[in-house]
Amino acid sequence: MKISVIGCGYLGAVHAACMAKLGHEVVGIDVDERKVTELSAARAPFFEPGLEDLLKDVQSTGRLSFSSDIASAEGSAVHFICVGTPQKKGENGADMAYVDAAVSDLLPHLSPGDLVVGKSTVPVGTAARLSTKIRESQPAAHLLWNPEFLREGHAVSDTLNPDRLVYGVTGGSEEHPSVETLDLVYSAPLEAGTPRLVMDLPTAELVKTAANSFLATKISFINAMAELCDAVGADVTLLADAIGMDDRIGRKFLDAGIGFGGGCLPKDIRAFMARAGELGADQALTFLREVDAINMRRRTRVVEITRELCGGSLLGKRLTVLGAAFKPKSDDVRDSPALSVAAQLQLQGAVVTVTDPEALTNAARRFPELHYEESTEAALRRADALLLLTEWPEYRDLDPYDAARLVASPRILDGRNVLDSNKWRAAGWTYRGLGRP
Ligand code: UDX
Repeated sequence: MKISVIGCGYLGAVHAACMAKLGHEVVGIDVDERKVTELSAARAPFFEPGLEDLLKDVQSTGRLSFSSDIASAEGSAVHFICVGTPQKKGENGADMAYVDAAVSDLLPHLSPGDLVVGKSTVPVGTAARLSTKIRESQPAAHLLWNPEFLREGHAVSDTLNPDRLVYGVTGGSEEHPSVETLDLVYSAPLEAGTPRLVMDLPTAELVKTAANSFLATKISFINAMAELCDAVGADVTLLADAIGMDDRIGRKFLDAGIGFGGGCLPKDIRAFMARAGELGADQALTFLREVDAINMRRRTRVVEITRELCGGSLLGKRLTVLGAAFKPKSDDVRDSPALSVAAQLQLQGAVVTVTDPEALTNAARRFPELHYEESTEAALRRADALLLLTEWPEYRDLDPYDAARLVASPRILDGRNVLDSNKWRAAGWTYRGLGRP
């Protein structure tokens, strides 16, 4: 099928490449010329495992191209909207400017029978509004809402083998003509057994925000338990293992630490609260305010524990932060808890060096005042304390004896509870976890 993908960020670039991999003829469209140039040369404009190999693989088939001209969407039967919906400046709500612009720009290029597929995370009610807009311009075109659940760092496999496909259509019926069209697009994963759920537009939009709210709540729940564990000298990692064995609870997303960040969970729960307020249902989501507050408190807690670890004062202390990305296998620093902690420590008088295998360029753009060091060894040298804040494998696997020879004082704060505390203590380190005795 001929497909256009509008917006080539973390979501759209991967989606475009994966659709070409599934055998479709794809054009990826983005207003950012730099991204278009990079992608056209089969280079990934951001770090995502497997993306660059996939780009090279599909571009050699001639099925994937990129353009900054929306007119290139003309002739495609299916148009995916993959642009961002960031948090509005100074407000909780989502900024819909990019989605609205993408759809408006696309309208003159739609033909009868075309299908517009929304993948961006949007406030509930957006799809119905866009559907009306599309119909007014091209009455024989349709809109389907198909939320995306991919995780950064696993984006390629999540797109090629999703755990479910959600189709939102006006009226919610399987008989809606666009269902058959999207089934053709996803024929490979559908044949492989991926469950597909057809529902009305608002339910499909809510599936995404509800899923992310649940994940955020799960993380804040275990972080609240970590606060209690700290108060009584209990161990939150053993607690998580034990409650996680109940398969109604499950062990995934129960890793206590410095909390969640990234371009999705924080802004999605805030946008969800803002939208509930507009709908007069704000009481239903007041618990998300607490989820957000618990999460932000983690960052302050890490600063406090670091101060304790440094003997009561941060002034002039040389601190090394291991990890800047909001999670491993990503170069994304949007709302990264690691960077936010690094910046707070620096503000409070510490001399902070940050290292990360992939995210230093993005981090330096966001926080130019911090000092960055590419080599882990150089970053460790003469440090008064280490803070492991993003659990990249190279930091989890650090040898405590080798590391001890580099630092000025063997003190470590394990902000993700991933190190073997006994091993580090045996090597002479003062070890602090979060919610661990
Ligand atoms: C999330 C959703 O998982 C995905 O389905 C959706 O499409 C987009 O938002 P992503 O932002 O890529 O994906 O990251 P995710 O793996 O969910 O992690 C989010 C944050 O939570 C990270 O900062 C991570 O470090 C943190 N986290 C995750 C925890 O602190 N503890 C956990 O147990 C799990």
